[in-house]
Amino acid sequence: MPEAKVAIELTVNGRRVRAEVEARMLLVEFIREAIDLPGTHIGCDTSFCGACTVLLNGRSAKSCTLFAVQADGGELLTVEGLASEGGLHPLQQAFAAHHGLQCGFCTPGMLLSSLQLLQKHSDPDEQQIRKAIAGNCCRCTGYQNIFRAIAAAAKMMKPNESEV
Ligand code: FES
Ligand code: FES
Repeated sequence: MPEAKVAIELTVNGRRVRAEVEARMLLVEFIREAIDLPGTHIGCDTSFCGACTVLLNGRSAKSCTLFAVQADGGELLTVEGLASEGGLHPLQQAFAAHHGLQCGFCTPGMLLSSLQLLQKHSDPDEQQIRKAIAGNCCRCTGYQNIFRAIAAAAKMMKPNESEV
């Protein structure tokens, strides 16, 4: 028997989205398949890697650990919502400038975890940066350039400071 669907409504990257989903659909599946935003990645099935990280109601969340219905009524930010008409987000610019990525698979999740950090701490120290991305695994970079990129983005996002 086909599973009954549940109506949900949420804001995704500033746009109102309505959908009917199976109650067991994961949020990451909803993001990638139902609303066609493939920038949120799936890197494991153990909630370890952080490639699926998004911001839900302003807090970072591993979208493979939530059902889509749990986002009903919420505000979701995915990597596709970071850039604006003015160009790439400072975090995206800093990751590019400081080689904070190689294959890029971890990058969407890294960016969203970093954004949450910078929204809480405008001038994070290295320990705060390490803690913020502790749930995000990168198999390429060795992390040093990611730390540099996040610190550089913090400077860029401070008023009157724009150095990359
Ligand atoms: S896909 Fe690895 S933590 Fe979600
Ligand atoms: S850049 Fe390849 S996994 Fe991080």
